[in-house]
This record gives sequence, structure tokens and C-alpha cells, in this order.
Amino acid sequence: MSAWSSNAKFVSGELEIASCAVSALAKEFGTPLFVVDEADFYARAKAWQSALSNGFGENAGNVYYAAKAFISVEIAKWVNEVGIGLDVCTGGELEVALAAGFPTSKIELHGNNKSEAEIAKAIEVGVATIVVDSLQELARVSKLAKASNKVQAILLRLTPGVEAHTHESISTAHEDVKFGFSIASGAAWNAVVAARSGANLKLNGFHCHIGSQIFKSEGFELAADRLISLLAKYRDEFNEELPELDLGGGYGIAYLENEVTLNPNETMMLLANVVTNSCVANKLRVPRISIEPGRAIVGPTTATIYEVGTTKEVRLENGEVRWYVSVDGGMSDNIRPALYGAEYSVALANRNSTASLRNSRVVGKHCETGDILIREVKLASDIEPGDLLAIPATGAYGRSMASNYNHMVRPAVISVINGTARTILRRETAVDLLALDIEESARTMPGATKDERRDK
Ligand code: LLP
Repeated sequence: MSAWSSNAKFVSGELEIASCAVSALAKEFGTPLFVVDEADFYARAKAWQSALSNGFGENAGNVYYAAKAFISVEIAKWVNEVGIGLDVCTGGELEVALAAGFPTSKIELHGNNKSEAEIAKAIEVGVATIVVDSLQELARVSKLAKASNKVQAILLRLTPGVEAHTHESISTAHEDVKFGFSIASGAAWNAVVAARSGANLKLNGFHCHIGSQIFKSEGFELAADRLISLLAKYRDEFNEELPELDLGGGYGIAYLENEVTLNPNETMMLLANVVTNSCVANKLRVPRISIEPGRAIVGPTTATIYEVGTTKEVRLENGEVRWYVSVDGGMSDNIRPALYGAEYSVALANRNSTASLRNSRVVGKHCETGDILIREVKLASDIEPGDLLAIPATGAYGRSMASNYNHMVRPAVISVINGTARTILRRETAVDLLALDIEESARTMPGATKDERRDK
């Protein structure tokens, strides 16, 4: 059960999560349904926090949960209860944090194109750190901090030129990317100089994030090493040491049965070794080390429950038969297979089946051939409309990347713990879908009444 949350188990063929049977959940809350194993979320968040402390001791900085993986007001409250920080990358994510009463002194603001409004709000509410991504942004943060008479702590996002071995669009720190200042080209050093001379800025150190769903530690190690070399250059040049390094997130999780989720303690021990060795080699004090796991905290905590609507036999060119099993969600609640070719596992969740297995494909209900959740899987041949399928490890980048494509409502997210269930993000309704449509409104450009435009 490696891809499932800690409190998920099959009892007489039925999936139970935190002692809640999924058929009862489906009946009460409808499908598709994101089911979050609440205790598992706490456990994973705590595990990363204690792993950081175990690895780095007094030099452990903050674990900032990466809100982009999945955030809601309730989740932000959980994160706060655990006592870790929050990484937000837009004003919208910041709003959720504020709505949850999240302490702003534990919030980091990210993003490669933050608007003045976003920066101003972040400074106004007193976020701990703004991770600066460009020279224009450096100037904006400086200007806005000055205007509000504050000194804003910043980190510079650096591009260490590391190819993390993962899907290209989720690998972010090799050179040809939109994020950060390249170390190799000298852009990073120019940013350091600019940050030092910018008014109302306090440069605390450097940040990098090399990609996501990474298992090999070499990428993290190389990146840390390159950032530390730049810390040494800083010390040589300015005769003082920067106190902080934030090494981002990206820790991989299991999606399939034979995969593993990175062990927080082992991962942090490895990283601590590299950081310590590199600091010793550069004769530097070990800076405060922060990390930003998103997927590794929330990903494994959640499963999506779908109801089967139709099944269909399709004869392939090679004479084989494929069963198409259509469920009541699809690419609107999980875009990852279509976008990244991401692979998931699936299980019949409401009953046992001893029927023979057949070559199947699990697809959604969108008007698009590529609306495939699981490309190839063997499923019981007696699966029929009304059965429930569960896909584990959908907690990260599932609901958070969900869309209303084909005017589908986005599913509810419920949390389960000790046999109880409650909604933390409600299912959208047709009213939500229509809420933005404006039937009649005044035009604002001169001479642009409806009739005049139509007469042209
Ligand atoms: N910190 C920064 C600056 C990031 O850009 C990200 C993710 C994280 C932390 C958290 O990374 P994690 O620990 O969750 O891997 N939508 C893609 C993943 C995009 C990741 C973007 N940045 C996916 O579904 O795989």
C-alpha cells in the first residue's frame, strides 16, 4: 500500500481511510471526492520538521509548506498547528493564509512576476521573507518597503544550473528557465550587489528550488554546494556571512505500488552532510537551512474517489481488446497525467472482486481523447457502473490545479480522522459555475454602445 495514506486499508475488499468506508463517504459527500487523511497530514508535516531539526540541529531554519501543492483555509490552519511555515507564491495564496490567521512572520512570498499589489500587501502584513526573482522586482520591493517605512528581509532566488531528473516542465533550476538569477552567468552576483545597495532591503541569503518529484539526492547536493560557494564569495568580498539558505522543495513521493516516498530523516541527513562538508571546505559557518516541501507533505495523504459511469470494449489494431472505464471526473480534477504523462495507480474501492483481470484504461468524462487518468492497468472484468475506483497520492497538484473545463464543478475535499469525516472545501455547484457570467452591463468606452458597435 505504499502509494496510499498511512491510515488507508482494505477491509473485505472495501477501502477504508481513517476507518471511514469509502462507499459511505461517496454516498454522503458525492463523487469525485478528494479524501484527506488528516492524521497522515500532521504526521508528514511533523516528520519533515523533525527531520530538518535532526539533520541540522541549531542550524535548522524553517520548513515552509509549499501552498501551491494544495492549500485551503483549513489546511493552512493545520500547517500552523504543526508549527511550520508557509510558502505562498501569489497574492491569492497569501489571502488564504491570512483568512486562516496564519502568522505572517512564518510566511515566505515567492513568484517570478509578483505584482506591486502583491508585494505591497506582503510587506504590509509583514511576511517574513520575500524571495526575489529579478532585478525589477528587487527595485519594486525596495521602493514599496521604503514607502511603508519598513525593512524587508529578502532571499535571492538563484539558478544553480542543476538538471534535476524529472519531467521538464517541473524541473526549474537548469539555466534556460524563467526562475531566478543564474549563478554561472554572473546574474546572481549582480543581484547580490544590487540587493546590498537597495534601500530598505535586508539580504539574508539565497534560495533555490531545482525541481519537483525528485528522488536522486545528487541534484540537491550539487545545488547546495553551488549556493554555498556563492556564500563564500560573499564573505570574501564583504567580510560578513549571510545567515540563511533555503533549498526549496521537490522531494519525491510514490504514485505507484513499487515506488517509495523519500524518507524525511534520511534525506535531511544526506543534505546536512553535504552542506556541512561544503561549509567546512569554504571555512563558513553553517547557515540557517530552510526547505519547502509541498508534495511530500500533502501528496500521499489524499485519495480521489470516483464512480464508474460506463465501461466499453474497444478492439485495438493489433487485435487486442482494451476496456475503457469512464469515471465521473478526469482532467479537470487531475491534469497531471495529461500534462506531464504522470502515472497513477488505481483500485476497485467498494468491494472485493475475484473476476479475471482485463487490460483497462481509466478515463474521465471530458470531451477530449487525452482525458486519460490511467493509461494502462489491469482491472477486474466485472467492474460496472456504480462501482467506486480510488486513485491514491492525489493530494498534491490535484485539487490545486483543478479547472472547470467543460463546466465541470470542482470536487469537494473532505478530511477524515478516527472514523469521522467533514468537508474542508465544498463541491462547487451550478450556481458557482454561473456566478461570473454577466448578462447586461454598461460599456465604458465612449461611443461603444451595443447598437453602435453592431452597426459598424
Ligand atoms: N518551492 C518552490 C519555489 C517551488 O516552486 C515549488 C514547486 C515547491 C517549493 C514545492 O515543490 P514540491 O515539494 O511540491 O515538489 N505541478 C507540478 C509541480 C510543480 C511544482 C512547482 N513548484 C506537478 O504536478 O508535478
